[in-house]
Parts: sequence; C-alpha cells; structure tokens
Amino acid sequence: MSLGVGFADRFCASHPESMRCIISEVTGRRVWDSRGRPTVEVELRSENGFRGRAIAPAGASRGTNEAVDLRDQTAEFGGWGVQRAVANVNEAIRKAVLGLDAADQTLLDSVLIELDGTPEKSHLGGNATIATSMAAMNLAAACHQLALWRYLAQDHEIRMPLPEIQIFGGGAHAAGRIDIQDLMVMPLGAASFDEALVVAAEVYRVAGETLARMNRLAGVADEGGWWPAFDSNEQALDVLTGCIEKAGYTHDQVGISLDIAASQLSFNGRYRTRIEQREYSREEWLQVLLDWLRRYPIVSVEDPFSEDDAEGMRSFTASAAGRVQVIGDDFLVTNAQRVNMAARNKTCNAVLLKPNQAGTISEMRAAFNAAKLAGFGTIVSARSGETEDVTIMHLAVGWDAGQIKVGSFSRSERMAKWNEGLRIEEELGPAAVFAGRSALPLQALAP
Ligand code: PGA
Ligand code: ZN
Repeated sequence: MSLGVGFADRFCASHPESMRCIISEVTGRRVWDSRGRPTVEVELRSENGFRGRAIAPAGASRGTNEAVDLRDQTAEFGGWGVQRAVANVNEAIRKAVLGLDAADQTLLDSVLIELDGTPEKSHLGGNATIATSMAAMNLAAACHQLALWRYLAQDHEIRMPLPEIQIFGGGAHAAGRIDIQDLMVMPLGAASFDEALVVAAEVYRVAGETLARMNRLAGVADEGGWWPAFDSNEQALDVLTGCIEKAGYTHDQVGISLDIAASQLSFNGRYRTRIEQREYSREEWLQVLLDWLRRYPIVSVEDPFSEDDAEGMRSFTASAAGRVQVIGDDFLVTNAQRVNMAARNKTCNAVLLKPNQAGTISEMRAAFNAAKLAGFGTIVSARSGETEDVTIMHLAVGWDAGQIKVGSFSRSERMAKWNEGLRIEEELGPAAVFAGRSALPLQALAP
C-alpha cells in the first residue's frame, strides 16, 4: 500500500549504522486511561539500550470507519478489557517486529498492517497496532537522542500549533446533557503557545465561575470541560460568548470552535437535538448551523453533519466557505482516501488527525500528507479517553500540523500535553513561531 508522498524520506532506513535502532524487546501491558478503563501500553527496547513507550487512547464518539478498538467483551471491566489486545502485542506482534529497525517506520507499520490483514485492524486491534507504532517512533527518537518533535522535524520549518481548548463538554462526553459535544476556544490573537494557554486558563476560569453563579455547574465532562446544566444548545453558545468577553478578549482575539459530532444526532437522515426535543431535516439543520455562524464568533466547526451525510457536509462547506474551518473527524477518520475524496467533493476543508483512528503512524501520516496537498487545515487530536502519553504534542509540532486539539484545561491527562507544548516552545527559544490564525484554511475555499 502507498503510504503517501514525503513520508518515507523522513523515516529513511538508510541512516548510518550507528543510528540503527534494532528492536530487541517488546512488552505489551495493561494500563489505565482517564475514564478508569483498561488500555494498551507498548514498551520497546533496542539492542543498543534505548527505550520507547506509548499508550493507546480511546474514543467515546467513534467514527464507524475507524480502526477497531479491540475489547475483550467479557464480564470483566464491563466488557472493556484489553487482555486480547495485550496478548496480541506480546505474541504475534512481538514475533513480527523483533529485529526490525524502529527508525524505519514505513516498514514496521507495513509489517503490522500485513500481520493484521483486515482493513479495520480487527484482528490485532487498532489499540495494539497504534501503541506499537507510536512506541517505535518514540524509540527511534530516543536512539537518535533527540526529543521526538525534533526527530520528526529534522530540518523542516515548524510552528507551535494553534490550540482548540474545550470550555464546555457535552454530547457523548457528558451523558448528552447538551447536544453539541465540544464548545471550545481558539486563541487566534495570541503571540505564542504560552500566551494561548494563558487565554485558555482565563476563559476556563471565568466560565466555571459563571456557571457556578448561574447554578448550572454539574461538574466536569470526560475531557475536563465544564459540564453545563443548560436549557438549550444556544444557551451554551450565549454563555461561552459572554465568558470570552468577560475574560477581557475580543472576538478577533478569541474565536469559538464547535465539535457538533453530528453522527450522534442523526437518525434516518434527520437530525435530533435532545435538549430542545427538536427534529430537523438536513436543510433545516443547515439553517440552524448557519444561523449560529451569523450570531456567534465561530471560526471552526467539526462534523456539522453525520459521517454518512456527504451532501450535508458539502452544503455546509459551500455556505460557510472562506468564513470558517470545516473539520472532518468521524467523517474522515484519519484516512488518506477519504481526505482525497473530501478534497474532490469539497465536503470539508480540514482534517482531524487521531493516531488510533488510523491504527499506525504511517497511515496517519498518509492522511496528513493528503490534507497538506489539498490545502486542508490539519489538527492533531487527542481522544476523550487519554493518559499521560504526550506523543500527539510532538507530532503536532514535528509535522508542523499547525493545530492541536487536546480537550479542556483541567485533568492531568490534558495538562500533560499542554505542559509538554510549553517545554517544546521553551526549547525552540527565539526560533519558536506560533501558528495562530494562519493555521486556519480560510483561504482554501475563498470565492
Ligand atoms: P472521542 O471524541 O470521544 O471519540 O475521542 C472526540 C472528538 O469527537 O473529537
Ligand atoms: Zn470530533
């Protein structure tokens, strides 16, 4: 299979003998994620004494076409057990990757793909393959004695990514309390990644105080955003807009980003909001969204229509052209072919890149390359089930994705990523460039 232009050259197998990173030990183990569910960690060791490790994340609002998250489905842990996925790492995967060069990511990933043998990685489990693939990348960086972002960047130009930070969590992450899954802010006017996080901290704090005062605070949702007890989706938009202003920012400095995760709302080609108990046709739903774009400072919308509603995605993208970023998450599932099709059909103008949707780093990279070729925005993303693993922050910087989505501004599985970004920015020193609003693909669809 083709892994896309420009990937192999960055993971060249022909590096000097001294840099070879031959895998000599493979360990799969069960660890625990931010929802207290089991997940797969893979640790690789090289002959020359280096170590690389990675943990598979887990989604709650998963796209139908993602790589399979292999679960035991036994009585243990409510079916969420990963004994089979861990055994696949310790047996079949171990045998196949022992002796391979971890720095030859393309070869290693094709071995995993072939060994699995299914299009959706249901045999080994996408959780087993992605943890192995990311661990190999981390091991290769360790062998080169480079931080992962630097190893990936080589001598290419890189920028610190513009973050999307969740303020309110809803949808599948808050038992459907509101229908919109993520209400996020994007600090467009920040001068640095550090400053972007200051903005996030301020809006997050003001939002928590505001909800508490309104008696609408019901805790925090899965990604750490405030769990709001609102009466409507629009109330969430009103309150968030107000909080941005109350925190002292203009709409030019801080924009709103929404993840509608509309597959969760769709039913027989129609869209249903639970909180308002309303049902819409595709055209009516389009009008609801366009009305929000007119009334609120929205700069980015993810999955506005369901994963199987290409016509809805196309009509929204056509109407919102040049004004907002339209992201395909469940709609594109980090898949290069789907990104290419979306570029041809103009069904969105940006792709969310989740390592475990693809199942290997090489396939994620192929989706990234396809998006770059199409002039799409690229957002490296966490899942709602996360851990202390910070690989995605390194990918976002090292590949120069321009944008990153991690969840909210609380809970250490989120903060670990933000704080890693601060360390990278500090290491870059005066050379650090913050992507800011230039990361949004708003020129791509301009008339
Ligand atoms: P997840 O959703 O629960 O599947 O990780 C995150 C998202 O939709 O972006
Ligand atoms: Zn999403």
